Amino acid sequence: FCLLLEPRKRRPGEPPLEAGWIPFLGVALDYGKDPLAFLRETQKKCGNVFTCKIAGKYFTFITDPFSFPAVVRQGKNLDFHKFAIGFSQRVFGHADFLAPVYYNGFREVHSIFHQTLQGPSLTQLAQSMLGNLQAVLRQNLPKGEDWAVEGLQSFTNRVMFDAGYLTIFGQQDAGPSADGDNNRTDNKSDLCMRQVAQHFLVFDRAFPEMAAGLPIHLCVRAWLAREALAEKLNHSRLQRNHSMSALIRRRMDAFDSMPLDERGKAGTHVSMLWASQANTLPAAFWSLYHMLSSPQALSAARAEVDRVVEQSGDPDQPISISREQLDSMFVLGSIIEEALRLSSASIMIRVASDDFTFTLDSGQTAAIRKGDYIAMYPQLIHMDPEIYPSPTEFQFDRFLDEAGQRKSEFYKNGRRLKHYLVPFGSGASECPGRFFAMCEIKMFLVLLLWHYDMELAQSDAQHRLSTDCTRAGLGILPPTQDVLVRYKVRPRSSSS
Ligand code: HEM
Repeated sequence: FCLLLEPRKRRPGEPPLEAGWIPFLGVALDYGKDPLAFLRETQKKCGNVFTCKIAGKYFTFITDPFSFPAVVRQGKNLDFHKFAIGFSQRVFGHADFLAPVYYNGFREVHSIFHQTLQGPSLTQLAQSMLGNLQAVLRQNLPKGEDWAVEGLQSFTNRVMFDAGYLTIFGQQDAGPSADGDNNRTDNKSDLCMRQVAQHFLVFDRAFPEMAAGLPIHLCVRAWLAREALAEKLNHSRLQRNHSMSALIRRRMDAFDSMPLDERGKAGTHVSMLWASQANTLPAAFWSLYHMLSSPQALSAARAEVDRVVEQSGDPDQPISISREQLDSMFVLGSIIEEALRLSSASIMIRVASDDFTFTLDSGQTAAIRKGDYIAMYPQLIHMDPEIYPSPTEFQFDRFLDEAGQRKSEFYKNGRRLKHYLVPFGSGASECPGRFFAMCEIKMFLVLLLWHYDMELAQSDAQHRLSTDCTRAGLGILPPTQDVLVRYKVRPRSSSS
């Protein structure tokens, strides 16, 4: 206990140590207030590698983007799973997959991500998402000529959550109602979906506290919401769903062959629900918000969507877009990447599995102690004015080159960067759902641009929204508040 309170002594060869003056907490308060500002200040004072004591733990930050590859290559000294599984077990209430009894099975489960979220499987998953997005929009949006008004965040959450959930977990077969009324069946499914979405949002809201170490049992509402989600995602219920993704079908088979109880299996599906939605919802929000806030972005995006959709057959039928067509939409791609750059604040963490010496790109070395964390904070890159001039400004064409294709050349100190945009992490922890996430958001924007006229309410169009920094470290930051948007069906004649 005393060791936790006492700042440790810096040993020869170790990076500068920022231990703060508050016992146990160290610099946690300054870091927590504004991680980006704190890390920039410390980088100015200490250079590209330094250790911070944060809530009893020691984090060595590597801030030089040219040194990222050496960390993400992750030799035998750096471990990603130890940290990630420990956190996930605590928050989602699933088994300890690091225990020898589970470990081999878990490695197999992990490989399912890549087999079902990327490559040829992605085509099918994206088509399923496109169908679900169109179904959700058809059910929920006004059909008349009048403007509807709604919060942009609540609109985005509703459409993206429902379509994403149906795509990954499938559709519950509600069965016919006793009197054969189909509307009542639809209402029942809709009510069930609203409950799941509500539980998800309550659970997700408590993430900053849980990430800071508060046990979930002390976040009572979040705990109840998590248990309600686990109940909805238990195997006996999921087995009744149709049109489920290969990802969940294969994970269910794999977990059924492991020595897990039903609650333990459901906990893994809650973690998958969180991974598939928690970042996608705010990313879709910011992409749409920035696009609507910039007349140039909106008109370039609309021209691109009209060109691609008009090629794809009868514009009055449900839209079909191939992956190749989605990949060719560079304007939408640039809008989404720019929105991710501005809103992403994830932290990449590895655990040192031994004492070792880390060599930075510059040749400088840093002695690292076993058990310490190595951390990288990509927002330092995303907000670096040398890499991105006027970094706080939304520039819709920042990721377009002169030929209108995806731009991937960004420089610092005259050297080309490999890691210039890192919203999805990198190396062992790189998000396996990243290609699907980009498809989902692109399709969302395509459908809205094609079917609707949409604009921010006048008063909200004038002031710029800011990000909610209390979630820094957890991924895409949500807005501090919602804004009103109005939308109506787009008269078809105006598009032709
Ligand atoms: C992991 C970002 C969407 C599935 C991650 C990580 C990041 C991230 C930064 C790494 C976390 C770490 O280093 O600990 C995002 C963003 C998304 C998104 C920004 C949307 C814009 C999705 C989607 C899915 C998904 C749609 C699935 C359908 C996962 C999974 C992991 C993960 C399963 C854990 C991987 C592992 O344990 O190796 N994501 N993600 N993500 N993401 Fe995503």
